[in-house]
Amino acid sequence: MFSYRHAFHAGNHADVLKHSIFVHVLDYFNRKDAPYWVIDTHAGAGIYDLTSDWAVQNGEFIDGLDRLLGAELMPPMVARYLEEVHHFNPDGVANFYPGSPWLALRALRERDRLRLFEMHPSEAEILKHNLAQQDRAAIRQSTVYEADGFNGLKALLPPPTRRGLVIIDPSYEDKLDYRKTLQTVNDGLARFASGCFLVWYPLVQRREVQEMVRSLERLNTVEWVHATLTVRKPSDDGFGLHGSGMFVVNPPWTLHQELEQTLPWLRQKLAQDDRAAFTLTRSGQKASASARKPTKSARRP
Ligand SMILES: C[S@@+](CC[C@H](N)C(=O)[O-])C[C@H]1O[C@@H](n2cnc3c(N)ncnc32)[C@H](O)[C@@H]1O
Repeated sequence: MFSYRHAFHAGNHADVLKHSIFVHVLDYFNRKDAPYWVIDTHAGAGIYDLTSDWAVQNGEFIDGLDRLLGAELMPPMVARYLEEVHHFNPDGVANFYPGSPWLALRALRERDRLRLFEMHPSEAEILKHNLAQQDRAAIRQSTVYEADGFNGLKALLPPPTRRGLVIIDPSYEDKLDYRKTLQTVNDGLARFASGCFLVWYPLVQRREVQEMVRSLERLNTVEWVHATLTVRKPSDDGFGLHGSGMFVVNPPWTLHQELEQTLPWLRQKLAQDDRAAFTLTRSGQKASASARKPTKSARRP
């Protein structure tokens, strides 16, 4: 069993990118009355206490969520994401951070459903405990499987509603996770061709990442949007996360346009050095935007 616990990373720059996009996709699904399912193949604990020892140990949220707080002008996608985070912090201090299951719970309407996979026994126990504190509607709408999300997804597709989104957010501690993620998307599309699949991945110098991304970009029967956000130069020892990517299959038509506004803003806010950058591509198109943060001399005062 691997040791990854999302509590050490909650609210970091990668969560900001992933969850801003996730909230946008959920909002889009809510534009229509027809019910949908959200399936989270790697759920984590659901909600995180940013004052806990684990969160404070690396303080990753300081260079993530915290950098956005208090900004006056921001792109709509970020404003919506922060609105969701603020919901869990009514006192105005960002002590709690909603993970993907909690963002989904906020979005669900009465007939929508949430299916959560979490394989780590301790994390699954916390997730179940956290869910048990929610209102009856949330409990009724949700099912937690203490099981492998890569394997378990197949049995749930297509969802009975024939509308749905799947978020695939592994820890990638096991390098096989890259191949499994790709396989899961391919199998998922074979069963549910109209499903929206959101894949998060870390920007690390590994052959497996490049292979996964190249294969995803070769998907030619579906539309997709692919965004990456780099916040700093990779460290010499390879430790730490300098950036991440989100690959969205069958995205809302609004997603690319929103990201065109959002990514330059996030790059500016989250930049830790002058290697901060973003990319934004979509199916049937060459790179539509790709930019680095201006060098120091070109920065506005
Ligand atoms: C990055 S965290 C998930 C964070 C969550 N999606 C969010 O955005 O709030 C990845 C989680 O997947 C769990 N995990 C690892 N391998 C798994 C597998 N094969 N199936 C289900 N869960 C797994 C880990 O224990 C960890 O809690």
